[in-house]
Amino acid sequence: MTALLKVSSIETLYFDRIYALFGVSLEIEEGEIFTVLGPNGAGKTTLLRTIAGLLKDQPKKGEILFAGRRIDGWQPEAVARLGIVYVPEDRGLFRELTVAENLELGLWGRHDDGVDKDVDFVHGMFPILKERARQEAETLSGGEQQMLALGRAMLRRPRLLMLDEPSLGLAPRVAKSVYEALTAISRRGTTILLVEQNARLALGVARRGAILEAGRIVLEGASKDLTENEDVREVYLGVGTAEAAVKGWRLYRKRRRW
Ligand SMILES: Nc1ncnc2c1ncn2[C@@H]1O[C@H](COP(=O)(O)OP(=O)(O)OP(=O)(O)O)[C@@H](O)[C@H]1O
Ligand SMILES: [Mg+2]
Repeated sequence: MTALLKVSSIETLYFDRIYALFGVSLEIEEGEIFTVLGPNGAGKTTLLRTIAGLLKDQPKKGEILFAGRRIDGWQPEAVARLGIVYVPEDRGLFRELTVAENLELGLWGRHDDGVDKDVDFVHGMFPILKERARQEAETLSGGEQQMLALGRAMLRRPRLLMLDEPSLGLAPRVAKSVYEALTAISRRGTTILLVEQNARLALGVARRGAILEAGRIVLEGASKDLTENEDVREVYLGVGTAEAAVKGWRLYRKRRRW
């Protein structure tokens, strides 16, 4: 099977001297949900921003191929035109525009006859967006804002949807409904690259995943294998001895096998 996205040994630096990614490689297959897990500061957002072309002159080293084409060094608009849609952690909404206006922005530049069907899909997935069409985006709850961001992203017809911590700040029940929507989006054939700190949710929907720590991939595999990995269970799924939980993160590092 050929990869839709192939990231090979990329290095990304801030201010040309602070390394955020040290030789990260990943392959994401067409149609799958792939998750990248990792703690604060691991480089998850940097990875998505590098792929989206949002960091000038980055990656410094390595290659990014999308559908067989080399795209590292491209302008963000050119990357977006290929169908790579990035939903940032802050959701990137226009706060003072209404729900309907934000959705319309997702349709910008589209002249195909699939628009109505896609709008129906988004309204079917998140009926609240239809009910609240005239409400300003900033007055929506966190969960509704995430739904609007996802809905708008879908109207861009992504081939690859990149999501930065979609569950962040959401109540468990709301996060669960956002994740159900991801499953529906995936069933429609969209490939998803999902960055998360909430390993339980992400591994629940993803087919495969990787763990990023301090700018390096330390473990990669099928979600099922990651879920069964002892270190992943202790550090990311919070399944372990009470004693271990109290000692915290730093002590785990010494014991882990990666
Ligand atoms: N604009 C920036 N300028 C300088 N350093 C940055 C910048 N953005 C991120 N970094 C650094 O790069 C590293 C990776 O950050 P990044 O935001 O990619 O992590 P993350 O895994 O997304 O973390 P979180 O889970 O907290 O969102 C961190 O050490 C961070 O301090
Ligand atoms: Mg981040």
